[in-house]
Amino acid sequence: MARLLLPSFLVLCTSVLNAVAQSQYLLGLGIADITGPVVETNMMGYASLAQTDTGLHQRQRARAFIIGETDNTANRVVFINADIAMGDTGIRRAILAALAAKYGSLYTAQNFALSSTHQHSGVGGYLENLLPQLTALGFVPQTYNAIVQGVVLAVDRAHASLKTGTLSLGNTTVTGGNRNRSPTAYLANPAEERALYVNEGDDQDKIMSLLSFGTRGFLSWFPVHGTSIYENNTLVSTDNKGMAAYLYEASIEPNAMPGSQTFVAGFAQANVGDTSPNILGAFCESPGKPYDGMPCQANTSTCGGTVQDCHGRGPGFTLDNLGFHSNEMIAQVQVDAAKSLMSSNLKPVTGSVRSVHVYLNMANHTFTLPNGQTAQTCPAAMGYSFAGGTTDGPGALDFIQGDNSTSQNPLWEIVKSFITPIPSAAQTACQAPKPILLNTGYASFPYPWSPSTVDIQMFKVGNLVMIIVPGELTTMAGRRLRNAVRAQLIASKIIDDSAYVVVAGPANTYAHYITTREEYAVQRYEGASTIFGPRTLEAYIDKYTSLVPFLADKPSGTPSSDAAPPELTSSALSLQTGVVFDAPPIGKSFGQVLVDVAKTTYKAGDTVVAQFVGANPRNNLRLEGTFLSVDQLISGAWKAVRSDSHPSTIYRWTRVNTFLATSNVNVSWTIESGTPAGTYRLRYFGDSKPFIGSISSFTGTSSNFTIA
Ligand SMILES: *[C@@H]1O[C@H](CO)[C@@H](O)[C@H](O)[C@H]1NC(C)=O
Ligand SMILES: *[C@@H]1O[C@H](CO)[C@@H](O)[C@H](O)[C@H]1NC(C)=O
Ligand SMILES: *[C@@H]1O[C@H](CO)[C@@H](O)[C@H](O)[C@H]1NC(C)=O
Ligand SMILES: *[C@@H]1O[C@H](CO)[C@@H](O)[C@H](O)[C@H]1NC(C)=O
Ligand SMILES: *[C@@H]1O[C@H](CO)[C@@H](O)[C@H](O)[C@H]1NC(C)=O
Ligand SMILES: *[C@@H]1O[C@H](CO)[C@@H](O)[C@H](O)[C@H]1NC(C)=O
Ligand SMILES: *[C@@H]1O[C@H](CO)[C@@H](O)[C@H](O)[C@H]1NC(C)=O
Repeated sequence: MARLLLPSFLVLCTSVLNAVAQSQYLLGLGIADITGPVVETNMMGYASLAQTDTGLHQRQRARAFIIGETDNTANRVVFINADIAMGDTGIRRAILAALAAKYGSLYTAQNFALSSTHQHSGVGGYLENLLPQLTALGFVPQTYNAIVQGVVLAVDRAHASLKTGTLSLGNTTVTGGNRNRSPTAYLANPAEERALYVNEGDDQDKIMSLLSFGTRGFLSWFPVHGTSIYENNTLVSTDNKGMAAYLYEASIEPNAMPGSQTFVAGFAQANVGDTSPNILGAFCESPGKPYDGMPCQANTSTCGGTVQDCHGRGPGFTLDNLGFHSNEMIAQVQVDAAKSLMSSNLKPVTGSVRSVHVYLNMANHTFTLPNGQTAQTCPAAMGYSFAGGTTDGPGALDFIQGDNSTSQNPLWEIVKSFITPIPSAAQTACQAPKPILLNTGYASFPYPWSPSTVDIQMFKVGNLVMIIVPGELTTMAGRRLRNAVRAQLIASKIIDDSAYVVVAGPANTYAHYITTREEYAVQRYEGASTIFGPRTLEAYIDKYTSLVPFLADKPSGTPSSDAAPPELTSSALSLQTGVVFDAPPIGKSFGQVLVDVAKTTYKAGDTVVAQFVGANPRNNLRLEGTFLSVDQLISGAWKAVRSDSHPSTIYRWTRVNTFLATSNVNVSWTIESGTPAGTYRLRYFGDSKPFIGSISSFTGTSSNFTIA
């Protein structure tokens, strides 16, 4: 008996010691599908009218991370990392309403953050303001609903998984993961300030910060634009952060279908503004011109005087011309960094969980600078260089490219008579030296083009503070904000020297870019898109630092807030037409094989394709499901071993005849090395809409084939 007592006494001692060294938190993690319509819908990010989706490469997901104190349910935060281009006020409002209906006051505007991976190959049409809707032909309710329902489901799953555990924190350097796409603007920052960072990435933050949830997952932050996949791709995908999450989760649970793993890998975005995944630089793609293949002109990113031919190149640009190889490479660099952190000795996180949130009207916001002077922000405006786009995608909105092209956009036909008002002398002076192209802060017809009111939010988890930002901070802007908040946390004795601060976003509301005042003066794309004028960053620094005291263990009072932004979703214009009906060609049926797999035997590296009589996938998004499977014959029974979210499979839909309502679907699979030998088949899952009556589902199946 005595011999047995001794070890259990030791175990007890050790666990008591651990409890002192490391706080216990209530932790929940969950994933859900947020993929909107994968065909006939504009894609979000590049603002290109021509980029209309035609199929699916990987589903978009929301990943939810709940962190709470074990003994006080009110002290809890939920961080959403969604595979979308940016957070949005309308989406956030709808999610919060749904969460309030289910959970009462557990998840609120204060402790819920909707952050995005800032990817550029997802489904568009979900934002509430008019400007980002223009190329999407207005608002697309199906996209909006998919994101709202999916995020709520991710929170439901995280909530259902809540249990106690510990957190730990660390960072590492990522090389070959990002590059500054506006280095000449960065050089406008003071030399003494730049000198502080020459060994810390110089004009890019190269640090990945990671919060480990132990064996259950992690949340990481690293700044790199989600523009690895180019603007000319039309397959819905997740870009490098969503790919990194897939690769990491698949490495832990290789046999689980994507999105059904229990380990949740969070690759979140940080001060992304002037970062690019196109790490080889920007070059002229100008066939026949003397400068073809040469670097673009550095200050203006032009080739022969125009921006159109200047394109950034990712590490795999010779391997395919849509960016998919580069995408996987930039994803892998992030996966490797996260793996090295997860297997290293991270520092335990201890201390309270707190959150603070206010609304801030950034049009005409007056505040005091650290030197005592009064400063003011301006109603939103876009500069001329906004139309020039970036080297990641000369992302001009089509309607500003010239009179001739505008007539192709029916939404522009409706709103063009309400073109943004001519800026007043006061607005011109306030925004100087920005030459104003779109005076969006004064454009409110048919509804506001840009937001005026933004979400200002911070989460504290022990010594980690997340600054949740409503836009894209450049590298130096992010450093200034982080440094100011960290100094304030220490000065206010809220956290000691161990205070660790990350920037997360674009989150909640999308208020475009945030540069430093010096970068603003250069007016590259990021400066031209810093919508509230030259003092935008300083106004944010002032506001975020003023909220630091509310992260105290026992804060006194509540912060004052401006009014919440107006609800616009219910009045949104929507020009996308619904599916009228589907029909198979005469003598054929839905799901029938039109072109069967070409061979009976394949090997790794081959691509197997089958074409089926299709129907419009907008009839049923098959959320949490799949439009295709690769089945393997195992002990006499077919088992699905790939879904439409494996990067090795592609679902493509093609309309054959609009009048006859016929369409085809191609299912393809590029066989990965290491795929077990055996018998396989391809399947297609569709849903057809008759002219009269309700939508019904059907299945198509290819012939069997073997992998040798
Ligand atoms: C990385 O972590 C170390 C140790 O906590 C810290 O000293 C350093 O400042 C961190 N780096 C950044 C860029 O936050
Ligand atoms: C290009 O930008 C650099 C750095 O800001 C500046 O020193 C230089 O004068 C600029 N060149 C031109 C031609 O504008
Ligand atoms: C897509 O765009 C990239 C970048 O401009 C270009 O290099 C590539 O050739 C384009 N691919 C196709 C298929 O047009
Ligand atoms: C900002 O101030 C200007 C000038 O006083 C005024 O015309 C405008 O309505 C204000 N805008 C907002 C959004 O408050
Ligand atoms: C645009 O329209 C003008 C006037 O109708 C015409 O002269 C010009 O050729 C057009 N440009 C293009 C690119 O079609
Ligand atoms: C679909 O597959 C068929 C048969 O392999 C092929 O001829 C066709 O080009 C494919 N269509 C698309 C859009 O890839
Ligand atoms: C495919 O395999 C299944 C299971 O062995 C078998 O029942 C079926 O006849 C095969 N189909 C073809 C076309 O060979």
